[in-house]
Amino acid sequence: MGAGLAAAYGTLGAFAVRFLYPARGPRREWRFVSELARLQPGQSLSYRTPTGERVAIARHGTSGDASDFAALSSTCPHLGCQVHWEPQNTRFFCPCHNGVFDPQGRALSGPPADEGQSLPRYALKVEGGLLYIQVATERVA
Ligand code: FES
Repeated sequence: MGAGLAAAYGTLGAFAVRFLYPARGPRREWRFVSELARLQPGQSLSYRTPTGERVAIARHGTSGDASDFAALSSTCPHLGCQVHWEPQNTRFFCPCHNGVFDPQGRALSGPPADEGQSLPRYALKVEGGLLYIQVATERVA
């Protein structure tokens, strides 16, 4: 009976610790991507985060602020293939099952559209003519 009580209190204690100290998200930082002038409207580049995620960063506008750009995960939310930017079609395309996404990452056709899956977005900012992206710097176990 003593062992049963100890196990019950131990489990209760573990739940109390998790309640009082919830797991926090991954640490995030702003990282340099490019000088604005090096990425013209219609162009894109591939960026790899410190945790190994691939991000497609495309420029669509000329205002000179972060709204000109979209930074989207290059990993298709359907089954994980790599998407790429097609400037001639103004879209992101996944060749595995013909998934199509608009410049903001919203699924337009193919399995991602059928399942309502969009490309995850990353925050961007412009400071002093330089483009920065906010990324996780550590993986959460
Ligand atoms: S993995 Fe991209 S559409 Fe299937």
